[in-house]
Amino acid sequence: MTVLETPRLLLRPFAIDDIPAYARIRSDPDVVRYLPGGAEAAADAEAIAAARIPDFIQHWRDHGFGLWAVIERDSNRLIGHCGLLRLPDFDAVEVLYMLDRPAWGRGYATEAARASMEYGFRTVGLDRIIALVLPENRASARVIQKLGMTPIGNRQFKNLDVAVYERLAPPKET
Ligand SMILES: CC(C)(COP(=O)(O)OP(=O)(O)OC[C@H]1O[C@@H](n2cnc3c(N)ncnc32)[C@H](O)[C@@H]1OP(=O)(O)O)[C@@H](O)C(=O)NCCC(=O)NCCS
Repeated sequence: MTVLETPRLLLRPFAIDDIPAYARIRSDPDVVRYLPGGAEAAADAEAIAAARIPDFIQHWRDHGFGLWAVIERDSNRLIGHCGLLRLPDFDAVEVLYMLDRPAWGRGYATEAARASMEYGFRTVGLDRIIALVLPENRASARVIQKLGMTPIGNRQFKNLDVAVYERLAPPKET
């Protein structure tokens, strides 16, 4: 599992020890409002964190890429997740990000997602990465725009009407 460094962030693999800190982030209804399960899922944050972190670790083993724990380098604090997941329903790889509320508004999601996508294209060799967003999630839609992704339509996903975006790999250097 790979560690990525950006100017302000460290993207490192999740560990089982991260469950309590990750659960605390997911216990904020504003953080999970636009994720599958919605704001109500905040009440189940501990169970969700305990189930998902082992899944994230397994995804890395299965595919050689996955979600990273996002660490703010200045504070050494876990502030969320970002990375790439296989999305079998779409036969594609999705870029995802979720940050603790105090970390919003500083460009961190864009910084982390850019590094994740670059890893996906350059190291994993993906030829396409998609993103899904609920249209009312304006901050995430703006991040997707800043990542240079192109809208390709709307689709039903987990009973939600999501906007789908894609970015194709840059031409290979010769
Ligand atoms: C979406 C999220 C990751 C954004 O994180 P962030 O670090 O604040 O994002 P960035 O600072 O990189 O960029 C956010 C952009 O959205 C803009 N923005 C924020 N709130 C907005 C709103 N309500 N309407 C329009 N634009 C908004 C910001 O101004 C910024 O754009 P700018 O750089 O042009 O000023 C964060 O809000 C989050 O974790 N939300 C909860 C989880 C989530 O929804 N994840 C995405 C699921 S698709």
